[in-house]
Amino acid sequence: MKKYRFALIGCGRISKNHIAAAIANQDIMKLVAVCDPVAERAEKKAADLATGTGEKPAVYADYHKMLDEMDIDCCAVATESGYHARIALDCIRAGRHTLVEKPMALNTADAEQMIREAKQHGVTLGVCHQNRFNAPVQQLHKALEAGRFGKLVSGSARILWNRTMPYYQQAPWRGTWAQDGGTLMNQCIHGIDLLQWSLGGQPDTIMAMTGNYLRDIEAEDFGAILIRFKNGAVGMVEGTACIYPKNLEETLSISGETGTAVIGGLAVNRIETWNFAKSAAQDAEVAKLAGTDPKDVYGSGHNTLYRNFIHAVDTHTEPLVSGTEGIKGLKIILAAYKSQKTGQPVKYDGLNFSTLDMAHDDVKVD
Ligand SMILES: NC(=O)c1ccc[n+]([C@@H]2O[C@H](COP(=O)([O-])OP(=O)(O)OC[C@H]3O[C@@H](n4cnc5c(N)ncnc54)[C@H](O)[C@@H]3O)[C@@H](O)[C@H]2O)c1
Repeated sequence: MKKYRFALIGCGRISKNHIAAAIANQDIMKLVAVCDPVAERAEKKAADLATGTGEKPAVYADYHKMLDEMDIDCCAVATESGYHARIALDCIRAGRHTLVEKPMALNTADAEQMIREAKQHGVTLGVCHQNRFNAPVQQLHKALEAGRFGKLVSGSARILWNRTMPYYQQAPWRGTWAQDGGTLMNQCIHGIDLLQWSLGGQPDTIMAMTGNYLRDIEAEDFGAILIRFKNGAVGMVEGTACIYPKNLEETLSISGETGTAVIGGLAVNRIETWNFAKSAAQDAEVAKLAGTDPKDVYGSGHNTLYRNFIHAVDTHTEPLVSGTEGIKGLKIILAAYKSQKTGQPVKYDGLNFSTLDMAHDDVKVD
């Protein structure tokens, strides 16, 4: 297999996970360029990569110039969320396979266009929902695919985290409708993606109450969502950035006729409950995972996610988190926003909504 040549666009906080993935996957990829208009950030990432691989990538401030000048197969987009769609579309149109940070876009029209154009240009589109690769989550999916749960009844995603004002003040885009959205869109989208993936992946109706309780930002710092899936199962989301005094847990629980699984810990990486009517070979592997819980809430999933993306590019198959998969969590959150705004349940199919359709008054709780 050839080594795929990557460029990283956006060298902020999450870029360290992309650099780590590039170092971990040196056998199948080479990060040849990094780009950020803030020169010292791009230089720092170039130096980090050089420390890990012995080779310094090219450094750019302008990704258009980089796309014109460099021989690149794949781009990773890790800028503020509001720029993802525009930059990803530029990469796709330049014929580059594109891996975009979550959320893939901030409205349904942009996300649908990204999926459509990736197909038209014959390139692979992936979205960074790296928690799907957490070992306990992979085991849960093995159990779901084997039908061990029987009839699915319900599931929940509880994201009980803390983000204080210094977090939001790190950069002006955080917590804005134009560039970010609130805690559902930024922090909880991973848990919501896991919930929808586990409960059948076909949402039908969404109802929500969201609110801005404590943080001085435009968007919500709390959200509760109910999701009815086409298979009848019901998903519940409790997502908050307001837990005092620090991150408490991110937990996914799935319940069916003949099985219950709960994966908790700080970021859905520790098996808490694993009860099935019938035992199976995988139970021994699950037992080995008991007690593990990485300290970093981002986990190490980017490494595996990159590997999966590169193999998909190489074999002309879909990555585990393709654009078609990545849009689902986004649409559930946009539907939740619409439900908060209108006070009504919202149908998933045909949804056309943007974070820009929300205003501070839609969520402010005095
Ligand atoms: N997968 C995850 O778990 C995870 C975790 C954290 C953040 N994220 C996502 O990653 C994205 C970035 O988050 P962050 O915390 O790193 O933000 P950040 O503000 O620290 O970094 C964003 C960087 O993008 C750069 N940038 C802006 N426009 C650019 C352009 N045209 N070309 C190149 N670079 C440009 C900015 O200068 C900045 O350095 C967000 O969308 C966020 O939701 C994902």
